[in-house]
Order: sequence, then C-alpha cells, then structure tokens
Amino acid sequence: MTIETLDAGARAILTANDRGGYTVPNGRVYPFQWNWDSAFVALGFDTWDRDRAWKEVETLFNAQWDDGFLPHIVFWQDDPGYFPGPSVWATGKTPVTSGITQPPVAATVVRKLWDSAIAADADDAYRLRLESLFDKLIAWHRWFRDYRDPDGRGVVVAMHPWETGRDNSPEWDIPGEPIDISNVGEYVRRDTGHLDAKMRPTKLEYDRYLALVQYGVAQGWDHAKITAGNPFKVADIGMSMILLRANRDLLHLADYLGRDEEAAEIRAMIATAEAGIDWLWDEEKHSWCSRDLLTGRSSGFITSASFLSFYAGLADPAKDAAMLAHLHRIGSKVEYLMPSLDPEDPGFQMIRYWRGPVWAVVNYMIGTGLAEAGFDAEAARVRHDTLALMERNGFYEAYSPVDGSGSGGDDFSWTAAIWLAWR
Ligand code: GLC
Repeated sequence: MTIETLDAGARAILTANDRGGYTVPNGRVYPFQWNWDSAFVALGFDTWDRDRAWKEVETLFNAQWDDGFLPHIVFWQDDPGYFPGPSVWATGKTPVTSGITQPPVAATVVRKLWDSAIAADADDAYRLRLESLFDKLIAWHRWFRDYRDPDGRGVVVAMHPWETGRDNSPEWDIPGEPIDISNVGEYVRRDTGHLDAKMRPTKLEYDRYLALVQYGVAQGWDHAKITAGNPFKVADIGMSMILLRANRDLLHLADYLGRDEEAAEIRAMIATAEAGIDWLWDEEKHSWCSRDLLTGRSSGFITSASFLSFYAGLADPAKDAAMLAHLHRIGSKVEYLMPSLDPEDPGFQMIRYWRGPVWAVVNYMIGTGLAEAGFDAEAARVRHDTLALMERNGFYEAYSPVDGSGSGGDDFSWTAAIWLAWR
C-alpha cells in the first residue's frame, strides 16, 4: 500500500468516527468520547484540519467538572453497545460522564497543536483558544496534585485500573485482591459481544472494575472521600511519567503566555515529581515499575509504560542504560516493539489487551522520548515497528508483538491518528 492510500484510509476512519466535535474510538466497541483517545486523535486531525483538531480537545474539556477533574468517558449521547453506561456511573453531571480520569496527555498535545499553529503562522487566530485551554489544563493538573497523590510523593495514584488507560495490565492484579466483589451483582458485558473474549479482560477483572465504580457511586463521586478510602491505590508508572511530561509542556505554554504565577506553580509540581519519582524505580528488576501505595510493594512488572521515562525527560544515565538494556532484550524476543508486557514474563499473552499487545499511542510516546533523549537507533526501531504494523495489517486497536496480527477493534481512531501524526 502506498503512503497516500494509508493516509486516505486513516483520514476516512477519523471522519467516519467523527460524531460532530468529538470522535469515538471505535463505533461499535467504544461509542462515546474517551479522554486520552481524543487527545491523540487531535494530533491526527491537525495534519489536515486544524480547527477540527482544537475542537476535539475543546469538546473534551467542555465536560470538565468544577473541581478540575476531567472524566475518562463523556457520554454525549447514550448507546446500548457499551457497558457500564451512564446509568451505572450515576455521576449526576451534565453531560453525563464517568467518575474516573485517564492519563493526562492533553497538555502535551495542546503544546503540539500550538507549535503547529505557530509554524503555519496561524497563532493569532488560536491564541484565545490556547488561553482558555491553558486554564482548564492547569485546573486538571492541580486536581491530580490534590486528589491523585495522597502522600504528596509527586506520583499519580490510580484509583481504578481504567484510570491508567492500561486496563488489564498485570500490575493491578495483586493490588486488586482486597477489592470486595461479593456485592457486584449480575451484569451483562458488551465488550465480549463485539470481540473475542481471548482479547479481553477476565470476569474477575470486570468484577473488580465494577466494584470500584460502585464504590465511587457510594461516595457520591466525592474525590476527597475516594482519595481517602478507595480500596485500590496504585502509583502508576505510566500516568506518573505522562503527568511529569505534561507539566513540562504546560510550563512551556505558561512561559509563552506570560502566566508567571501559574508557571511558578507548575515548576513546583515538576520539582515534586522529579524528587519523588525514584520511589517507582525497582532495584531488583532494574526498571521503572508501578507500586502499590497501600502496601508499598513494587509490582515488579516491566511494561511498555516503564519505557516512558525518556518521554518524561528523566535523564539519569544509569537508569537510562538499564531501560535501554531491557529494550534491546525485549526487541530480540519479539518482531514488533513495544509489547505491553515483557515477553519473558510468564503472564505474557500476545493478544490479550494490555498483557502483551503493542499499542500505537504508547509507542508514539516511547519513540518520541527516545528521540528527544538522543537514542536515535532505538527511537527509529520503535517508530518503524509501529508504522510497519499499520502498513501490513491496517489500523487496529492493538497488535500482537509476535506476528503483528490485529487485536481488538479495527478501524481504530487513535491508531489512525498516530499514523497521520508520526509517519
Ligand atoms: C480501552 C483502553 C483505553 C482506551 C479505551 C478507548 O479501555 O484500555 O486505554 O482509552 O479502550 O479506546
């Protein structure tokens, strides 16, 4: 297939999944607006329709709560194809939203959109829109500081596996054990009606997801109460790295806009993260790993998110060398980097969601970070593998790192967007 054909195919997916101001990740499996999907989708639109790109992010932030919280799903209209839908979340908001968030990639995306507007001499037309988004972005980052870092360590503590965006990663298995699933009740999953159950989370995992949603409902989605009492609290390596990076990009925007007070505040958040992130270094595994806040135990899992340290701008020669050694080792075991779980882990499953498959958006962040850190060969391999997966197999939700076959939904918005933004 030619580049032009692939470009046209990717644009056609975004256009077909466009619901007017927001884009669904996939019309059947995920028929609403998802938080970090929309941010990546904006990068795709920006390659041919700047206004539509900004609109995607603006629509998402139209669902922001007064306390700065930005939901992981916005249910602009109901759809029976997904469970748990708006009535299960019962957040009582207009528009109806979920009550948990997702990885904060938006500030980094907005900075990219802004740089692209400057390069095209369109910054005058977008400056007011940038100012308005800046205020919303900083409110969301403050929310992370206030409600997702209970010990003030400079990390992001996920209160739900879905919050990490890496739903069924094995990092959540042991920390999930104390979740009481005895009162979850009967429910009908919709995901396994659309897709092979082998590609999806298990029943036990779904029970835990729902129990945590029910816990949030019981707290009236009061974030302070949830922060204090949630039965699941894991410092996620992915979100922690992503927020650190996002704060660096937000700081750049604050400086550009002359927002000195906010810039000082963001600098403080960055300093706290830089000082605290070492807590997520696992000495035994020689890797960045998520850690259970409630027990203090490291997950010990090397996942694709472990490689986001470059993207976070953590230049630490010894740790970088250790992570590069893992990258080379893993790269010699699989055809396509970066599997979502170390292929030498006994729990590795090449088509099960976040326990093996390659995800284009994570690769995009890993590759970007490696390139910025000057690790050109590794950056090139990650980018090459990502694009090769799409060229050979189309725009799937994820891919087997072993044979490249598509896993999960097809015609997937964020995968198409990464093609457009990164090819
Ligand atoms: C799955 C993914 C999550 C994504 C969502 C919509 O839940 O794990 O990261 O945002 O699907 O694509």
